Amino acid sequence: MRRYFTHLLTSGCLIVSLAGHTQQVPPADSLRQKVDSVLTLMTLAEKIGQLNLPAGGDITTGQASSVGLVQTIKAGKAGGLFNLKGVEQIREAQRIAVEESRLGIPLIFGMDVIHGYETLFPIPLGLSATWDMSLIEKTARLAAQEASADGISWTFSPMTDVSRDPRWGRVSEGNGEDPYLGARIAEAMVKGYQGDDLAAENTIMACVKHFALYGAPEAGRDYHTVDMSRNRMYNDYFPPYKAAVKAGVGTVMTAFNDVDGLPASANKWLMTEVLRNQWGFDGFVVTDYTAINEMTQHGLGDLQHVSALALKAGVDMDMVGEGFLTTLEKSLEEGKITLEQINAACRRILRAKFQLGLFNDPYKYCDKERAGREIFTSENRRFAREVAAQSFVLLKNQNQLLPMQKKGTIALIGPLADNRENMAGTWSVAGKFDASVSLKDGLERALADKAQLLYARGANIVANEALESRISIFGKPTRRDNRSSEEMIKEAVAIANQADVIVAAMGEAAEMSGEAASLSDIEFPQSQRELLKALKETGKPIVLVLFTGRPRAMTWEDDNMDAILNVWFAGSEAGDAIADVLFGEVNPSGKLTMTFPRTTGQIPIYYNHKNTGRPLAEGAWFEKFRSNYLDIPNEPLYPFGYGLSYTEFSNGEISLSKKRLEGADTLAASIELTNTGDYDGAEVVQLYIRDLVGSITRPVKELKGFQKVFLEAGESKTVRFELTAEDLKFYNYELEYVREPGEYVLMIGGNSRELNSASFTWE
Ligand code: BGC
Repeated sequence: MRRYFTHLLTSGCLIVSLAGHTQQVPPADSLRQKVDSVLTLMTLAEKIGQLNLPAGGDITTGQASSVGLVQTIKAGKAGGLFNLKGVEQIREAQRIAVEESRLGIPLIFGMDVIHGYETLFPIPLGLSATWDMSLIEKTARLAAQEASADGISWTFSPMTDVSRDPRWGRVSEGNGEDPYLGARIAEAMVKGYQGDDLAAENTIMACVKHFALYGAPEAGRDYHTVDMSRNRMYNDYFPPYKAAVKAGVGTVMTAFNDVDGLPASANKWLMTEVLRNQWGFDGFVVTDYTAINEMTQHGLGDLQHVSALALKAGVDMDMVGEGFLTTLEKSLEEGKITLEQINAACRRILRAKFQLGLFNDPYKYCDKERAGREIFTSENRRFAREVAAQSFVLLKNQNQLLPMQKKGTIALIGPLADNRENMAGTWSVAGKFDASVSLKDGLERALADKAQLLYARGANIVANEALESRISIFGKPTRRDNRSSEEMIKEAVAIANQADVIVAAMGEAAEMSGEAASLSDIEFPQSQRELLKALKETGKPIVLVLFTGRPRAMTWEDDNMDAILNVWFAGSEAGDAIADVLFGEVNPSGKLTMTFPRTTGQIPIYYNHKNTGRPLAEGAWFEKFRSNYLDIPNEPLYPFGYGLSYTEFSNGEISLSKKRLEGADTLAASIELTNTGDYDGAEVVQLYIRDLVGSITRPVKELKGFQKVFLEAGESKTVRFELTAEDLKFYNYELEYVREPGEYVLMIGGNSRELNSASFTWE
């Protein structure tokens, strides 16, 4: 058996044997010792090979079908593979590495396991709307369980890019606009994936991405330039990445974009000074897909030059581009990089493999029986249904139209009603799209013989055919209907006229958000708005079930629909979960983690903005020489933290333990929360502060705490928060992390707009 083997001598030295190669190495601390013991056996080419990460093609057992990749592995020119799916393929690739390469160093197998593996949870933006950290952690745990059962040891998640621009399609993959909430979610995800023991067979290594600032591209256009002050980086955009590092994330992925004039993958300040020196990150850094090569397009020089820049900046692994593989040896000969830089990168990758236990058992994730037993089980799917329902955000509910009763006739109308594949949402690489539950499936099951369900498509997702072909991808067809829009609307209106209530399943296709899916206009799609207008004329009450991967500008919908339930893309069990909420089995409790603007022109719009010297008075619309618009109010349509319930909650006055605090004091703040409505339900109680006077300008509100509290109808509870001096710290002009004495306002409420407040001073 060709395994890694060591023997400690009494001298403290180690005899290491790997694939029959034996060497004596000097002592060091244990993990370091093991890593060095392997490093000493490696040739320069093998070291550089470890820094290379090809995409997994087709590895067919026993055949040389993907000759190139097989040769690469045999020659020790790959440290891992990614997005190769299936335990047998992965076992075979691992076998080639372990049995047929000179040293037999095992591969690490990565994948974009973003919101579940085969059992899909809501897209991350939806998950964040649960505000439930233990639930989010469990989704990551279960994703790791399924992925590890199928051969995967590494996920390219969590994505923690703060974003204030819903034109950017990848907001669907993140946690919204808030650094504090983003940081809590980053911790929960890392914990969920990695567990307490990375060497266990059901945990996988996490990768926080995209470091850094990927969520702030100019004009919301993917991969575009980012240019922001360091102050904003540290205060608003860095906290979630930093929290992931603090939670022990094993790897970090570079961003594609510029950071302060240098693409992230060449940015030594970012990759070494901030990440390693300031935050103490000790794992390895992988680039995003061909990010090194792309630096040539950025205008930094040829492949050899940009590859050397990346290595020197602190990048360890090169995804797909082969810049490291093909140029580092030459750069070393020419003295442009040092052997120690290559060794350092190689060490970090080997270290991760040791931490995962791959040297002890390279096949530890390759148990076919486990794969058959643990993936897409009915238990996992039940959990996904529960999570999905928790992620929905009730945006409007006039006359308590919801929950509906299971009786009479319901007209289900819209291009997303009968589309299983699109329920998966973007970045669902391992998903079984056609096994998802569509809304039509869910309603049919829920209504069975209790009520009549009628259906019409009514419209295409977008009228423009070229646009539709761009979003009908990755196994998620939109199934364009070639009838004229008049014909489709006519049919839908006829169906609606026979019903008591209309459920309109509308919004975006799954691939209208995600990577390279930016929009210049986030208004509700016109073809569907026309349909809604026609349905409105029937006079029937309408529930808009909104499918979306981003905030949408839907002032018209808010004015004209009776109820709006935002269901994002809820994953495998979407249809059943939506039915659970529509009929009141589950009371919605999701809250937005990203502001919904009134129009595209309000972007960027976010709750934690600065005040300006000429703020508009609260509640006012327009005043000359104030910071506002001539044509629309400043206020968004739905603010951060917003979401309704079938019940009502009331917040009592804030009570503070002290009004004047000093140094290391702790401030206790509490309110009495009462469920004053008729349904049991959960409320997300949010705590914000405002630092009234600072050495630099400070945001008008900053989230500093939240709790999701469940109350039975009529029940009251005291909700308590504690703030320490640490919670008031921020990065000042000199980028020192400080707390400044002074006066603060503390606010508590159910969303960032409607808050009770109290003040205190902290000397
Ligand atoms: C994305 C990453 C992803 C990688 C590998 C890139 O295009 O930006 O988020 O992890 O591909 O699939």
